[in-house]
Amino acid sequence: MSKSPANYRPETRLVHSGTLRSQYGETSEALFLTQGYVYSSAEECEARFKGEDPGFIYSRYSNPTIAMFERRMIELEGAEAARSAATGMAAVTTAILAPLKAGDHVVASRALFGSCLYVIQDLLPRYGIETTLVDGANLDEWQRAVKPNTKTFFLESPTNPTLDVLDIPSIAEIAHKGGARLVVDNVFATPIWQSPLALGADVVVYSATKHIDGQGRCLGGIILSSEAFIAEHIHNFMRQTGPSISPFNAWVLLKGLETLGVRVRAQTDTAARIADVLASHPKIARLIYPGREDHPQAALVRKQMRGGSTLVGFEVKGGKAAAFRVLNELKLAKISNNLGDAKSLVTHPATTTHQRLKPEDRAALGISEGFIRFSAGLEHADDLIEDLTAALEKA
Ligand SMILES: Cc1ncc(COP(=O)(O)O)c(C=O)c1O
Repeated sequence: MSKSPANYRPETRLVHSGTLRSQYGETSEALFLTQGYVYSSAEECEARFKGEDPGFIYSRYSNPTIAMFERRMIELEGAEAARSAATGMAAVTTAILAPLKAGDHVVASRALFGSCLYVIQDLLPRYGIETTLVDGANLDEWQRAVKPNTKTFFLESPTNPTLDVLDIPSIAEIAHKGGARLVVDNVFATPIWQSPLALGADVVVYSATKHIDGQGRCLGGIILSSEAFIAEHIHNFMRQTGPSISPFNAWVLLKGLETLGVRVRAQTDTAARIADVLASHPKIARLIYPGREDHPQAALVRKQMRGGSTLVGFEVKGGKAAAFRVLNELKLAKISNNLGDAKSLVTHPATTTHQRLKPEDRAALGISEGFIRFSAGLEHADDLIEDLTAALEKA
């Protein structure tokens, strides 16, 4: 009996899941760069619109290339259904907003990517949705925040940029006891190292712009969950409001998935080597790397993640001036606000991704002026270490 792709190991699913071959039997997945579809009869067209015929209608709703990308992600993540979106933020905003109405309440971890924080703190309240921010690592704060109208919990783990790890099973339990769902942004962990649905989360979102593309080419996002959640809350919202992904971008991401496992493993090995070198470096005041025993939540990392991270966080002694000197001295790693790329990228969160925050809020999150986020790429680890240590000499 032949196995269904969903029963193979993740590496095999990354290459084969979801492939739909056309009548030409192409090896590589076809790019269906089409807005719409034609019907062989008015009756077939009517049946398609009534949902009695499963074919495609319009690429704002679905498209064969997009369907391949979604199916491959579904089988990788162990979800029942998915809808992809134009960007990671389109996926985050839709996953949070689509199921809610005025009068509902959302609880979220305070340590969020700046745009996710904007959605929670600024956008939702404008539409009558109450929000509460908590210290994500403090389970009592999640518990105390629950109200009768709480519908959604939202978190990132590891967090951006300080790589704190939050207890997904315990937070899911608190959410479910309170009648709420847990939405996890799994960008920093990647589907290779963490499966939030298996840990108790109800919805997973990705910025596919990051590791899934991983080669700096295009933006994309995806929401994965149960059949019921996608059908009831997401499908119609996306179909009518239109934050859909382009088939071209879905094709790039689909091909990106084929090498995701290899890339994430290599980038994680490199990040771990960089972390080990920085841990004892005299110019470094603080090092954070999920995967090292000195990570504040090392036991939790072992429990809920299968590997460390492609990212390393560190604080350079001497504040912003020293951090800027390091960034400007680096020859190989490039200054950027992106992450998860084949090229190593360095970010100064205080002046970029998190500059919108008040200084005291940044300080509370551990984003000091000397803090740098290093996203390890696919270069040789020794070249990156030589580049970093030479730059640190100048700090
Ligand atoms: C944790 C996290 N979530 C969401 C996003 C948004 O993704 P995108 O840039 O694809 O909209 C980003 C990065 O930009 C991110 O780092």
